[in-house]
Amino acid sequence: MNKTQSVESFYDELSNQYTELIRKCVPRYEEIFYNLFHYIPSGLKPRNILDLGCGTGNLTAAALQYYPTAQIHALDISGDILDECRQRFAGISNIHYHQQDFNQLDFKDESSFDLVISSIAIHHIVDADKAALYIKLHGLLKPGGIFVFADQTSGMNDEIYQKHIARWKQEAFKLGSTQENWDMWMLHQTAHDYHSPTVWHLDQLRHTGFAAVDVIWKNIMWSVIMSVK
Ligand SMILES: C[S@@+](CC[C@H](N)C(=O)[O-])C[C@H]1O[C@@H](n2cnc3c(N)ncnc32)[C@H](O)[C@@H]1O
Repeated sequence: MNKTQSVESFYDELSNQYTELIRKCVPRYEEIFYNLFHYIPSGLKPRNILDLGCGTGNLTAAALQYYPTAQIHALDISGDILDECRQRFAGISNIHYHQQDFNQLDFKDESSFDLVISSIAIHHIVDADKAALYIKLHGLLKPGGIFVFADQTSGMNDEIYQKHIARWKQEAFKLGSTQENWDMWMLHQTAHDYHSPTVWHLDQLRHTGFAAVDVIWKNIMWSVIMSVK
């Protein structure tokens, strides 16, 4: 990638290798998904789910396992990665695809979703846009609905953030990442990533009006945050 490449074209270019590369990059990737779904109240029987930044559909596949009869809306800015996702779930009629930007979500009806999920995607927009997104999602959720997402977060100060990055590098190499893979992710991080502290997300979500918010799981710089409308 080059430094001025957009996030959309970065993921367009990576789309056919993404499913393999991400598992070499993110420590305890499957555990993140397990925890994201594990703490959703068992009484919630979601009929409509929105997956923000679905990529090739790794989280979408987990959602389908947990909620096989729900209507799952997979959304991503990258057309090519969305095509990979579409091919992966070919023949499955309850997954719907939306090429949209988080900053311009186009769902007209308020209270459309019982559950909004996302993994490792929201950090691609700046804090002011995250705050606007949370307001939009609060409106799109039904009363009692859940917004649960996993994301890369920074730390309470820069020293801790840098220590997180150093630990991430060690773990990524243990998972099989090469120096070339790491350099590619770091270039992407410099160009497109806006990591915020976990408590920043909690404050924003509370401020937005969610009734309850918490960090339900954390490892190094990956946090799973749940909010109840
Ligand atoms: C690291 S991938 C995560 C994919 C998937 N959720 C997973 O866990 O494997 C981040 C995804 O977010 C998408 N994305 C980044 N910025 C976006 C934006 N502004 N609007 C919509 N999607 C975006 C990217 O295209 C990419 O597919």
